[in-house]
Amino acid sequence: METQITFLPQKKTLKVRSGSTVLRASREARVHIPTRCGGNAGCLMCKVKVAPDQADALTPPTEAERRKLGPLLNQGIRLACQANIIGSAVVELPEDPLKAAIRKQLERQNDDDLW
Ligand code: FES
Repeated sequence: METQITFLPQKKTLKVRSGSTVLRASREARVHIPTRCGGNAGCLMCKVKVAPDQADALTPPTEAERRKLGPLLNQGIRLACQANIIGSAVVELPEDPLKAAIRKQLERQNDDDLW
């Protein structure tokens, strides 16, 4: 059975086989999700955010996710290497920390220019 996943902010939508992990789908969509542990719930680098109304589009958190993410699960954070896609899903990737710092710096400069 086929379903689909959309990656934000890239706005890339891909049809995937139901049961694929979010990480595998990201690779097929050529959306970069950093990893260091080979998809074993060890590095926590593959975090994605799922909106509350999209939570059923992914399998329930694995025991490894529960252990590793703890309260972050309540904020919709999932591990892309552990979450399997079972419905039409939309996931958001966190902004790269370096890009976020540059963006904030530029926003501050723009605010200063206005005054
Ligand atoms: S790839 Fe390392 S925790 Fe998911």
